[in-house]
Amino acid sequence: MKFSVITLFPRIVEAFAAEGLLAQARERGLLALETVNPRQFTEDVHQTVDDRTFGGGDGMVMKVEPLARAVATLEPGTRVVVLSPQGRLWQQSEAAAWAKEGRPVAFVCGRYAGIDHRFTVKYADDEISIGDYVLNGGEVAACAIIESVARLIPGVLGNAVSAARDSFSERLLECPQFTRPREVEGMSVPAPLLSGHHAKINEFENSVALVRTALFRPDLLSAEAELQPAVKVVGALNDNELYALGLTREDLKELQ
Ligand code: ADE
Repeated sequence: MKFSVITLFPRIVEAFAAEGLLAQARERGLLALETVNPRQFTEDVHQTVDDRTFGGGDGMVMKVEPLARAVATLEPGTRVVVLSPQGRLWQQSEAAAWAKEGRPVAFVCGRYAGIDHRFTVKYADDEISIGDYVLNGGEVAACAIIESVARLIPGVLGNAVSAARDSFSERLLECPQFTRPREVEGMSVPAPLLSGHHAKINEFENSVALVRTALFRPDLLSAEAELQPAVKVVGALNDNELYALGLTREDLKELQ
């Protein structure tokens, strides 16, 4: 799958994609990433990419023409996405859909006071935000979206199961994970995880996922979610095990 990032700061994105699983995926040809700097497409000696806003607001606005010329270099059929806090909120379900479809994507990163809206109207297929907060530009948002899509491309993660079990794939927060030793600083790995009994481990992990979601992200739970059996499973833990999960008896009472 091919990602293009149209940005005045290509080194931010290149450094990000030069490490870890993304770098390996690029080497193995599972994904391609290019950066396109709109400054290349200016015609004046100062390589002007922005100008003052009409209406007298603060800051500079990115001009249409250099961005339009950058878009003209993209492979035909590329989905053009403008990143801005005004966009619709990015979701895991969409990451999965994009990874499955495999259509090339180009992210247009605004800087300063944003992008002349006529560029968005004419050239963008989508306007996306990664959260209700304001970044200095779209580069970090592009990196976040690229990573969320890339890790769902078959072969990018070593273990396909790990992506399927991630938080949000099943619309629940993930059950916390533990490693050795079994006891550390007064916290114990919950006994059901040590049982070696797959069905029991599954039931336990699903119960913890449900309880943690109800406590920390109730907005993700459907109205039909059956909480009480999960509360009972988690309530059977001793205090050191509950502590290791970041939970208290009071938390569980709240859900009863
Ligand atoms: N650019 C600035 N803030 C942003 C956000 N929250 N999401 C996407 N792009 C942005």
